[in-house]
Amino acid sequence: MEAIRNYIQANRERFLDELFGLIRIPSVSAAEANRNDMVRAAEYIRDLLLTNGADRAEVHATDGHPIVFGEKIIDLSLPTILVYGHYDVQPPEPLEKWTTPPFEPEVRDGKIYARGADDDKGQLFMHLKAFEMMTATNTLPCNVKFMIEGEEEVGSVNIASFCTKNKEMLRSDVILVSDTTMISTATPSITSGLRGLSYIQVEVEGPDRDLHSGLYGGAVLNPCNVLCEIVASLKDRDGKITIPGFYDNVIVPTAAERAKMAERPFDQEVYMKSVGVEALAKEKGFTALESVGIRPTLDINGIWGGYTGEGAKTILPSKASAKISMRLVPDQKAEAIADLAIKHIKSLAPAGVKIKAEYLHGGQAYVSPLDTPEYLAAERAYEQVFGKRPIPVRSGGSIPIISTFESILNVKSILMGFGLEGDAIHSPNENYPLENLFAGMEAIPLYFKYYTELKRKG
Ligand code: BES
Ligand code: MN
Ligand code: MN
Repeated sequence: MEAIRNYIQANRERFLDELFGLIRIPSVSAAEANRNDMVRAAEYIRDLLLTNGADRAEVHATDGHPIVFGEKIIDLSLPTILVYGHYDVQPPEPLEKWTTPPFEPEVRDGKIYARGADDDKGQLFMHLKAFEMMTATNTLPCNVKFMIEGEEEVGSVNIASFCTKNKEMLRSDVILVSDTTMISTATPSITSGLRGLSYIQVEVEGPDRDLHSGLYGGAVLNPCNVLCEIVASLKDRDGKITIPGFYDNVIVPTAAERAKMAERPFDQEVYMKSVGVEALAKEKGFTALESVGIRPTLDINGIWGGYTGEGAKTILPSKASAKISMRLVPDQKAEAIADLAIKHIKSLAPAGVKIKAEYLHGGQAYVSPLDTPEYLAAERAYEQVFGKRPIPVRSGGSIPIISTFESILNVKSILMGFGLEGDAIHSPNENYPLENLFAGMEAIPLYFKYYTELKRKG
């Protein structure tokens, strides 16, 4: 670890320059205007892989944004680690909420502020530099492959077919991913699970144009009112989701598992303060932490319709829409849940309005086993870097492609994330502490070492 620490010290400024170069490319996957930036970001990563010692690295076109693949094979009898990450970022809006512009990275109070500083450019960059350090110091203990995509934030639409087409090229023993959080550097943790996701959009259509709300109000059904009634009824007073069949396949962990999970330090007051609220939502029978970690939920992500401009306009809108995400747990299936939700929502529509609803994207939840060499190697790496044994934590977030990797490539993933919950990913002023960035760079080579050792012992 000393050699790696010294290497980081000696190259710290260059590392930051390289990362900042990547961050400055506004690779917003959701924005058509940034299509060319997606290619530039992919090429930037390919070039880093090549200068850092990859045998091969290339940008693969897809029907959407490109995927970067690279590898260094040192000995086919050794294990192969496949590193997954994503170079696309969330849109930076609202811009006026940023202290400094989102694509002009700046270090303040020991943190890098920029869109993608954590999610996922900062985190994937740790792998590029861990790779550089292992090749430069001749300590790469096994084979390594990289698959870095540009569509994670928009549902990883094209990577499944890329995996199906390139099974042999992607063959590996474990997939290593840094795209999640840990509790803190004082209380290290490893993400042992992710929630799935089922995302739908609903539109209620009423009259064929906006109407005068005085001349027609009361007689013609109002799509905004109807939509609000429908979405309000999707959860009851106990915080349970009312869609018939929604909970059918939900696996509830055992009392012993739940007791173990409750051991993690958690201060509800601090948690509420961190998001500026004075009370929390509650699903009856579950704690706040459980509501995020082991329970499915339903949230309206956006709702619109009618007049939202300045002042008052007296209309009865023609249409109203909502985007709804459902976070899933094992063994709920994303498409099946979307079907149930859409069927139920349509059944609630009164005569006089039409409902259109579609499934946008999603994926299954993921749970990592805690007793395999894949996991134990991560545990050791964190313990050595942070001086404390990490605890497993089931995260509420989703990386839908992880369960797809398991079904297509038949390989398990290890979620070795180094972000913090306070990093404001997807929000204004996203940031990533330098401490975490450099700790990750130290931990990754240790993972490679311990994983290769544990695998060899069999
Ligand atoms: N890296 C996040 C997911 C994440 C963050 C998981 C922190 C656990 C802890 C990822 O980039 C993300 O934002 N995923 C989306 C899903 C995607 C389909 C848009 C999410 O969770 O909303
Ligand atoms: Mn991410
Ligand atoms: Mn994200």
